Order: sequence, then structure tokens, then C-alpha cells
Amino acid sequence: MLGKKKSALGLDIGSSSVKIVELEETPQGPALTNYGVGDLLPEAIVDGEIMDRQSVVDSIRNLIESTGIKDKRVVTAVSGRAVIVKKILMDRLGEDDAREAVQWEAEQHVPYDVSDVVLDFQILKTDVGPKQMQVLLVAAKKEMINVHADLVKEAGLVPELIDVDAFAVQNAMEANYDFTPEDVVTFINIGGERTNVSIVKDGAPHFTKDLALGGNTVAEALQREHALSHDEAVKVLRGEVEDTYDIPQFVQVACDDLVITLDRALAYLQTSSEAEGLTRILLSGGGSRMRGVKELLAERFNVPTDIANPLLRVTYEPALFEGSDASAVAPTLAVAIGLALRKVGI
Ligand SMILES: Nc1ncnc2c1ncn2[C@@H]1O[C@H](COP(=O)(O)OP(=O)(O)OP(=O)(O)O)[C@@H](O)[C@H]1O
Ligand SMILES: [Mg+2]
Repeated sequence: MLGKKKSALGLDIGSSSVKIVELEETPQGPALTNYGVGDLLPEAIVDGEIMDRQSVVDSIRNLIESTGIKDKRVVTAVSGRAVIVKKILMDRLGEDDAREAVQWEAEQHVPYDVSDVVLDFQILKTDVGPKQMQVLLVAAKKEMINVHADLVKEAGLVPELIDVDAFAVQNAMEANYDFTPEDVVTFINIGGERTNVSIVKDGAPHFTKDLALGGNTVAEALQREHALSHDEAVKVLRGEVEDTYDIPQFVQVACDDLVITLDRALAYLQTSSEAEGLTRILLSGGGSRMRGVKELLAERFNVPTDIANPLLRVTYEPALFEGSDASAVAPTLAVAIGLALRKVGI
């Protein structure tokens, strides 16, 4: 339509909540014109599996209705075990030939039948040895993509693009923060039951992994240790009720796997000379707001560590947040913003 502004919807279906953002292209760059967060029942999505399909569909529908979003086309994402991200070496080829060759290469690197996965790739380095190049291989199970796409369609939307959570986070961060080519940055998106981790240098994700930990891990530990109900534990975690519990201690235990994983990945990248020492950590996701998580990582890795604001370079009317603090909500919207930014760039 003539004169119609370019806009994009990013939809992030998490285990705790569904997030949607609408971005519009303006001369000043992208503007957030609408957003919504709809809580899900704790049992709706468990271990990345959609257990109560109808309640998730209803949540998305309610969100569309309450926000008044009219557009139907969405950019959405998948994550977890059914997505495999691997760095591989293969013969140096041009983009088109590589696209074909990746199909064969994948057979060695993907633990699923290649006909059962959707493949994508990114050439990271073209000068490895005399004839090789380094490629980031991404494989996602078709079945999971189909389940995801069907769910989105059932909610009355049209899935236009399906991305991966960790890449959407990277996209949101790179759009809002400046990094030098030498910077080695870790993006950590802490959700309810899953944490997307990536280590990025000069736009290339050198390490990407989803860990099975998040706010729920801490809430469950609190619940067990202090005989709280699930709701009470979540309220305590979110600081909605006064408490005397040592939350940072619970966070530390829950984050053990995260710290170990990062330590190993960074050591490997350093010995293989792919990325020297870490220079920065940026956190996002609802779980990044847990007491003590930022401090723990800052102390452990000794680099500037911040809870990111993926709306830093996105304009919006303050009224959109109805008095709540936009910078407190924004970290939870990182995936959805990164997705919408695929279509409305900075
Ligand atoms: N203010 C807060 N303080 C501490 N924790 C919070 C706060 N707000 C939300 N959380 C926690 O963040 C988690 C939800 O984060 P998020 O919305 O990013 O997850 P999700 O995307 O739905 O889940 P996942 O990505 O794991 O499937 C929950 O565990 C929730 O209790
Ligand atoms: Mg999430």
C-alpha cells in the first residue's frame, strides 16, 4: 500500500510468557509502536515441550486482542535441544556452492537424519589453511519447526520467518550497542527454564548453547528449601514480597552450570586463538533481574557486566509502558525485539 510504513512483529513464545513487539521504521530509526507480555501457566510449556497447546494459543490470541495489533505476519524463533549450532571446517567454496555442500557436511555433524532437519549456515572465516573455511552450521528439527509454525498459525498469525533465540538476542544487542572488532562479548539470555548463551566476536557467534536453567530453577530450589508454594517462590524471586532468604546464594547454585560452560568455552576459544579474553557480558531475559546474577558474573569473569536495554536505540512513546519502567521490561523483550529487527533494521 502506498505510503504505508514498514513495520514488523516479533513473537517470542517462552515457557513463562509470550512476548510480542511491533516495530515501525521511521526516519529516526526503528520505533516501538506496541508490545505485550502474556503470562503462561507453569504447566503450559515444560522442558521446551508444549504440553497445553490450547492455553498457549489462547495466550497469544489474548495478547493480540489486548494490544490491538493488526498485522498478522510475525518473525518468531525456536530454541533448545532440537536446534544444533556447530562450527565446522569445510572446503572453501562460494556462498551458492557452500549451500549445497552444507547438506553433505551436515551428515557428519548433526545427530539426526539430515532429511529431518532444516539447515542454514553462515561463513565465518574464509582463510583457514590453504583450502578450507570455517562455517557456522545451524540445524533445526523440521518436526519442531512445524509444531511451532502450526501453533502460531492456530493463533491467527502468519509465521514469516523462524529464527533461533540466541541469534535474535545477538541481533538485538548488536543493534543497540557498539562493539569493536576485537571485543569478545558474551550474551546471556536467562529465561524461565532455559538460558541462551553465545560468545560473539566481530559479529560471528563462536559459541552458542542453550542451557537448561533459568528463573524456574531458582524458584524451585527456593520452594523446596523453604517449603513455599510455586507462586510464593516466584513472588519472592521477583522481589514482590519482602523476604529474608539469601537469593544470591540460590542464584549462585543455579548458575553453576552457566559459569562452568562459559569457562570452558572461553578457554577453548583462547587456546584455538579464535577469541582472546572476554571483554564484556550483556544479560537479558526475565531471569537477568534475579538478585545477585549480575554481580556473580561480574565478579567471576571480571569484565563489565550489564543488564542490557534492547530498546536503547529504539524510540517509543513513554505512555506505551503505562508508568512501568521501560528499562526494567526491555530485557525480557530482547528476543522479540531482535526478531522484529530482522525486518525493520537499525
Ligand atoms: N523482576 C524479576 N526478578 C527476578 N526474576 C524475574 C523477574 N521478572 C521475571 N523474572 C523471572 O524470569 C523468568 C522469565 O523470564 P523470560 O520471560 O525471559 O522467560 P521465558 O522466555 O518465558 O522462558 P524460556 O525462555 O526459558 O522458555 C521467570 O523465571 C521469572 O520468574
Ligand atoms: Mg525466553
